[in-house]
Amino acid sequence: MMCDKPIGVMDSGMGGISVLKELARIMPNEDFIFYGDSANAPYGSRTTEEIYQLTEAVVEKLLKKDVKAVVIACNTASSAAGARLREKYPKLPIVAIEPALKPAVISCPGGRVLVLATEATLREKKFARLMEEWKDRAEIVKLPLPGLPEFVERGELDSPALRAFLQKYFDTVNDRPADAVVLGCTHYPFVRKVITQLLGPQVKAFDGAEGTARQLRRRLHRRGWLSHKSEPGSILWLNSSPDEKMIELSKKLFETP
Ligand code: DGL
Repeated sequence: MMCDKPIGVMDSGMGGISVLKELARIMPNEDFIFYGDSANAPYGSRTTEEIYQLTEAVVEKLLKKDVKAVVIACNTASSAAGARLREKYPKLPIVAIEPALKPAVISCPGGRVLVLATEATLREKKFARLMEEWKDRAEIVKLPLPGLPEFVERGELDSPALRAFLQKYFDTVNDRPADAVVLGCTHYPFVRKVITQLLGPQVKAFDGAEGTARQLRRRLHRRGWLSHKSEPGSILWLNSSPDEKMIELSKKLFETP
């Protein structure tokens, strides 16, 4: 039965765990398979074709595990591969995260919205379309942060080095304080506290996890594919890195409040 099958969730590494948390919170009876492609992370500085090939390979692995749906819990992979993968697998529900620009702009009309994401996410057509839709309602400032996912991949969620790294980038856009910040890469919610502390108490932070989780729930509900179980679901952790510590760290990140 379709409803008994697990949901596949993928990311370039461990960032997607921030989305998995929301998925498991709103669908606690579902079984999940989380695949982190940490051996190939970061995706954000790669070419579009490379990101597509890597994402497709992960989706193939999830399909071999007989998943009923796939969540691309990586903004970078969504931008570079989401549309092509939907064409390739027309019967598979594929939900792809995108930067939460809409709620951020709506929260501060006419204000300044800082969009933090990878270089690839910010250069792709998917983001250009989103930006086109909202650009007249706020001052939208794009800021790629190459190097930030690596901090999360080693479990470094707050440190003087991380603060110095972020401050260097924030100094390049400090001519006016930001009213809202979009955490447009799924690794970034793990360092939300540091980001908001550095940007100031006025800033509101937004990420796409909740919208993505709700969208998947809606799509599964429409097909009658939501789990009917009453007991809590399970999570199977997979990672392309041979380092066994990655699974341990994944579970730790999942438990991070
Ligand atoms: N977690 C990914 C995202 O949401 C990107 C991190 C990377 O560069 O691999 O965009």
